[in-house]
Amino acid sequence: MLELFAREVKEGLSQSPKRLSSKWFYDSIGDSLFIRIMNLPEYYLTKSEEEIFAKKTYQILSSLVPDSGEFDLFELGAGDGSKTMHLLTALKTRKFTYRPIDISSNSIDNLQKRVAEELPSIEVEGMQGEYFEVLAKLTTGRPKIILFMGSNIGNMLDERANEFLLKLSAVMEVGDRLLLGVDLIKDESVILPAYNDSEGVTAEFNLNLLDRINRELGGDFDRKHFKHTPQYDKESGVAYSYITSMIEQDVKIDALGQTYHFVEGEKVFTEVSRKYDEKALAAITNHTSLKLVDRIFDSKEYFCDAIYEKE
Ligand SMILES: C[S@@+](CC[C@H](N)C(=O)[O-])C[C@H]1O[C@@H](n2cnc3c(N)ncnc32)[C@H](O)[C@@H]1O
Repeated sequence: MLELFAREVKEGLSQSPKRLSSKWFYDSIGDSLFIRIMNLPEYYLTKSEEEIFAKKTYQILSSLVPDSGEFDLFELGAGDGSKTMHLLTALKTRKFTYRPIDISSNSIDNLQKRVAEELPSIEVEGMQGEYFEVLAKLTTGRPKIILFMGSNIGNMLDERANEFLLKLSAVMEVGDRLLLGVDLIKDESVILPAYNDSEGVTAEFNLNLLDRINRELGGDFDRKHFKHTPQYDKESGVAYSYITSMIEQDVKIDALGQTYHFVEGEKVFTEVSRKYDEKALAAITNHTSLKLVDRIFDSKEYFCDAIYEKE
């Protein structure tokens, strides 16, 4: 993983404009910061999807889970799995294996421990890895249910999201089901604070990426000369996160044997968070063999869990 991190940081900082992939946010410090973000009043995404999982568990079950027989429940980018616990609790008398997948080994370890303690009857087999890498390993011979929650799909722009769902549908068998959690287009006054909270936890989460480069790759980023600067583009329905250099400066990264120059005001792109409406959702499932079977909303209609069946 360290080799891949080094390669991607090198590629990203050599581009113009510079970029760093959001998947590297999640080391053990990033994981704990993300748990704090999920509990912030401004971060409506988790609360909205949590409400769906807590209050509409049985609707999810009837649209997503086969009435009888064994199956595998995969979760891509599971994080702390707190919302999934509602579903797991409702499924505890069924015979299945819960297979969470995450790039963060820390998340997988914690989640496995939590399920073993709280729901000991459930078999868990976590896997550390990148979505694309582990997709090929999803074949188990049993029907598959795949969870891709938290609007993680929105961290890919439409073309990549469509490509991703094409690959995902290609490893699914006819009848397998996918739950795709998406954040819906709404007023900027609700969206932007979710990426720029008043306590500065999101800023800390973004800037931890520079600390991670310092820790793991011997970088000399000086945090006080960088700032978290999110933006929301109403026209496209996309929130962008950037780390902006506040001064002209050079940053050396020993493991890469490189020094990178930043001009004052230069932005490093870190994350995209796409918001969806019906049309945008249809655009990313186009040309896949996934048929929409249900859409489940929270009471404010901020978030949607869309359920698809492989045809
Ligand atoms: C925004 S968090 C959401 C967590 C969870 N799905 C939820 O809804 O609360 C994203 C999670 O996906 C994981 N992740 C991000 N990029 C990934 C990738 N390319 N492959 C595997 N996991 C990834 C992160 O480690 C993190 O745990």
